Amino acid sequence: MSDELRETAAALVAQGKGILAADESNGTMDKRLKAAGVEPSEEMRRSLRELLFTTEGAAQHISGVILYDETFRQSTSDGTPFPQLLQDQGVVPGIKVDTGAKPLAGAEEEKITEGLDGLRERLAEYYDGGARFAKWRAVIGIDDHRPSRYCIHVNAHALARYAALCQEARIVPIVEPEVLMDGVHTIDRAESVSEAVLAAVFDELREQRVLLEGMLLKPNMVLAGYDCSDQPTDDVVAERTLRCLRRRVPAAVPGIVFLSGGQSDEDATTRLNLMNQMGPQPWEISFSYGRGLQAAALTTWQGNSDKLAAAQAQYRHRAKCTGAARRGEYSGAMERELATSR
Ligand code: 13P
Repeated sequence: MSDELRETAAALVAQGKGILAADESNGTMDKRLKAAGVEPSEEMRRSLRELLFTTEGAAQHISGVILYDETFRQSTSDGTPFPQLLQDQGVVPGIKVDTGAKPLAGAEEEKITEGLDGLRERLAEYYDGGARFAKWRAVIGIDDHRPSRYCIHVNAHALARYAALCQEARIVPIVEPEVLMDGVHTIDRAESVSEAVLAAVFDELREQRVLLEGMLLKPNMVLAGYDCSDQPTDDVVAERTLRCLRRRVPAAVPGIVFLSGGQSDEDATTRLNLMNQMGPQPWEISFSYGRGLQAAALTTWQGNSDKLAAAQAQYRHRAKCTGAARRGEYSGAMERELATSR
């Protein structure tokens, strides 16, 4: 069992590759479709996922794709189930298994992620359907009074319960404690909150006997709040993020797969690139981007089949740039290649 977990984790952080997070819940996906001018429906959600998963050349840069339950059960228009389509390209299918962040009793402005009920049975079914890794996202907000120790503790506890159940089912857990960057807080505060959260998470993972070699961590980068007047340079973001992780993430963890979290595509790529240029770290430094890989394709597509090829070119381009950043070989010149190839 532990060999299988180690092998899956290693495949997900293979050199030059990272993860596409295409596991938006129906509610989130519908909001994104609407914002791009597309009338949301099950068929539109399916079509967008087909567009992404059939993009020629993307699999060179993508090791795994996280799916939402609806997508996990859907197929291409010619009838190939999505998990099989991915496996056929050497891409590992993954599944989001939390059921969302809900108000935390007694601290209603904070959130607790739910989804533990029936998880053991759901994991067994997902494994049979081809899933070899999973995701659970905890959400921690920052303001003058948040996060509370209570919020950090219960989210860390739930993440570890999820991770232990995944490993029992031979599924690699991606442990995602996301510290949100909404707000006016400084990068110093983001760093100290991120450190406190990671400390609590790794305490719980140890308590609950999670095999560190058979999991991946999906953290936020350490950024100043998006509305903070004092914005750090990309170098400072990269240095602070690595410092925070080195202080709190055991070397036994095989890989760190960052979320993009609403950064611009180029910022998310540049900062990942810088971290990969800052010398060897104890773990692989990779990505598990949602918006950072898909946003440009969605804006181009707009639900229009005439735009399919152009949208796929956008996604292929982002996958190529982000894959290069994963090796520390990205440059601004790569961004211009797409413009000149059109
Ligand atoms: P973003 O990269 O858009 O933040 O999404 C990644 C993700 O899976 C968040 O849970």
